[in-house]
Amino acid sequence: MRYNVAVVGATGNVGREMLDILAERSFPAAEVIALASRRSQGVEVSFGDRTLKVKALEHCDFAGVDICLMSAGAAVSREWSPKIAAAGAVVIDNSSAWRYDADVPLIVPEVNADAVTGFRKRGIIANPNCSTAQLVVALKPLHDRATIKRVVVATYQSVSGAGKEAMDELFSQSKAVFTLGEIVPKKFTKRIAFNCIPHIDVFMEDGSTKEEWKMVVETKKILDPKIKLIATCVRVPVFISHSEAVNIEFEQPITADEAREILRNAPGCLVIDAREPGGYVTPYEATGEDATYISRIREDATVDNGLSMWVVSDNLRKGAALNTIHIAECLIERKLITAKQRAA
Ligand SMILES: NC(=O)c1ccc[n+]([C@@H]2O[C@H](COP(=O)([O-])OP(=O)(O)OC[C@H]3O[C@@H](n4cnc5c(N)ncnc54)[C@H](OP(=O)(O)O)[C@@H]3O)[C@@H](O)[C@H]2O)c1
Repeated sequence: MRYNVAVVGATGNVGREMLDILAERSFPAAEVIALASRRSQGVEVSFGDRTLKVKALEHCDFAGVDICLMSAGAAVSREWSPKIAAAGAVVIDNSSAWRYDADVPLIVPEVNADAVTGFRKRGIIANPNCSTAQLVVALKPLHDRATIKRVVVATYQSVSGAGKEAMDELFSQSKAVFTLGEIVPKKFTKRIAFNCIPHIDVFMEDGSTKEEWKMVVETKKILDPKIKLIATCVRVPVFISHSEAVNIEFEQPITADEAREILRNAPGCLVIDAREPGGYVTPYEATGEDATYISRIREDATVDNGLSMWVVSDNLRKGAALNTIHIAECLIERKLITAKQRAA
């Protein structure tokens, strides 16, 4: 069976990656429709060895679409996802618009694939925030073995997590540093070139940022509501891939060796942990890859049953596009959707 797939946000960072991954994985697509705003109408985007002409979202008739991969921000998703679902397509959304809705499953297939059946209530499935996705992939197998009580995480998030304009800003500011040009922050609150910014998304009343709040709420929804988590989310001058320094307190004892062995056999995880110079993964190496890399696994003697580790993944892939396509594959494998078999 082959499915008609629409990619909304096809000119964006995540949308382009979705098209690449659909082609790479030979996704069973009958037709792929690239959609974006009216500004991009007629723009060409790559899909495997073909190019697709982008159409404006409002000109698409979703009656023939089976699966809609949405990646155009929360406002667009709030307006369009219910309409697209009402036309009979399953929407898998990358924005934060539906993640906290009790009637919308929030899915990382390696962690909670069974919850995907909940999509029937609204016809929408949410993809988590990029920093949550890679974190829960690494936490789940350890939680199954020794029950996580509390997690303290500091993120080192690349600029691609803030969209294509943010990548352009790091590029132009870096160039300006060398050419003594003017540095004007636009997308970020302060200069991002050769700097770190401890602020992602808006501030909350308790002093945390919304990005930090998302990690707390999403980890609870996907993995276990009993897990306590505190995050400090930092934007760093890296183009692609997010890194996380993760400290975990467990209910039961677990050694670093045991954790390494568990993670080596866990879905989606790749352990590179040689305890020697270069024996760990950096964001540069994780870029373009599917795995969640785990390095620097060690015991933390300052608490009972403590472990620390370093988790790195490509935020545009496992953090967004790849996870979305994994969810679509989950629906197909479980025979939860059927193709309408009419031209989109
Ligand atoms: N980047 C990540 O690591 C990541 C991870 C998880 C989730 N997400 C989420 O994924 C979404 C997209 O992120 P991104 O990084 O790909 O952003 P981006 O590079 O800025 O791209 C945004 C896309 O949305 C389209 N768009 C904007 N307004 C639209 C409208 N009114 N109608 C139709 N299309 C519209 C844009 O089309 P035009 O080119 O025509 O403007 C573009 O294709 C966001 O909700 C983001 O929070 C991103």
